[in-house]
Amino acid sequence: RAQNQAQALALSDAMTRACDFYRGQLRSAPNAIEYLKRRGLTGEICARFGMGYAPGGWDNLRSVFPEYDALALVESGLVIDKVDEEGNRQKRYDRFRERIMFPIRNVKGQVIGFGGRVLDSGEPKYLNSPETPLFQKGLELYGLFEARQSIRDAGYVLVTEGYMDVVALAQLGFPQAVATLGTACTSTHVQKLLRQTDTVIFSFDGDKAGRKAARRALEACLPQVTDDKIIKFLFLPQEHDPDSFVRERGADAFDQEIHEAMPLSQFLLREVSAEHDLSEPEGRAHVQFDAKPLLQSMAPSALRLQIVRGLAGLTNSTPAEIEGLFELAKPVAV
Ligand code: CTP
Ligand code: MN
Ligand code: MN
Ligand code: MN
Ligand code: MN
Repeated sequence: RAQNQAQALALSDAMTRACDFYRGQLRSAPNAIEYLKRRGLTGEICARFGMGYAPGGWDNLRSVFPEYDALALVESGLVIDKVDEEGNRQKRYDRFRERIMFPIRNVKGQVIGFGGRVLDSGEPKYLNSPETPLFQKGLELYGLFEARQSIRDAGYVLVTEGYMDVVALAQLGFPQAVATLGTACTSTHVQKLLRQTDTVIFSFDGDKAGRKAARRALEACLPQVTDDKIIKFLFLPQEHDPDSFVRERGADAFDQEIHEAMPLSQFLLREVSAEHDLSEPEGRAHVQFDAKPLLQSMAPSALRLQIVRGLAGLTNSTPAEIEGLFELAKPVAV
């Protein structure tokens, strides 16, 4: 355990030093500054998120880490060891080159990973830190450290997909935004979100991937939602993500979208009924078939009863029939 802590400290120290280096490099990288300006970002907002630039070249981090070859830097993911077929080390090189750097901080504010974006086109668009003892992608929410006080002030958190969404929203008046970093919303994400606030508004991209992400978030929320929480889903036009929407339509339009966001109960009922013909018994049965695992994943609650009532109305059944058919656990008497 003491060894793990020492290792975590060394990792955290390496990440901080790299972050400072990337930040310094941004000041002398006109092409990177030009790119950020073109995307509408101010120097102030970039500084608030600790954004930086990893310049071109294979071993720039050598100047930051005199122990570049010896230190267990590979563990941090900042450098990569190229190995031959026998597994022998060939050479070591910087993972991030010619990329805008977004430091990912944990709730304590320590830098635990990075996302790096190419300037303009290029593949992959984002390169992320690999999983380390400090950083597990499915657990962290980008921007949570920066957003914590604003989430408290606003009374809700906005959950987006990407780095740029968080930074753009913060700049344009919505500092209560975080991102799942492109991965599916996990139950750990939901747990962390509900620990911060009682209202969560998911705002994923308007494209097909974003709608799929909303469905996954719904499934992650159902086992954890309680009657004192509000979970909503904001669906943007197909061609937009929160960044592009707020820049093109403005903060008032985005605020309007927030006010019109769809409650979880409505989203669930829409999800299960959208593709079926409610005028036919088979269609209504299929809606119930699709709703069953979702309702079964919920704890007994007033909200679940409301959803059961909604489903009963849609499928020409009674709430009691649905509860019986789905074998929904009754609340335990206390
Ligand atoms: N992502 C990733 N690796 C990729 C593509 C995406 O890790 N190759 C993650 C990033 O966290 C990204 C998020 O998924 O921010 C959402 O992806 P996407 O919508 O494609 O990118 P944007 O955040 O919209 O980035 P940009 O506006 O710069 O294109
Ligand atoms: Mn996308
Ligand atoms: Mn975008
Ligand atoms: Mn996007
Ligand atoms: Mn189906």
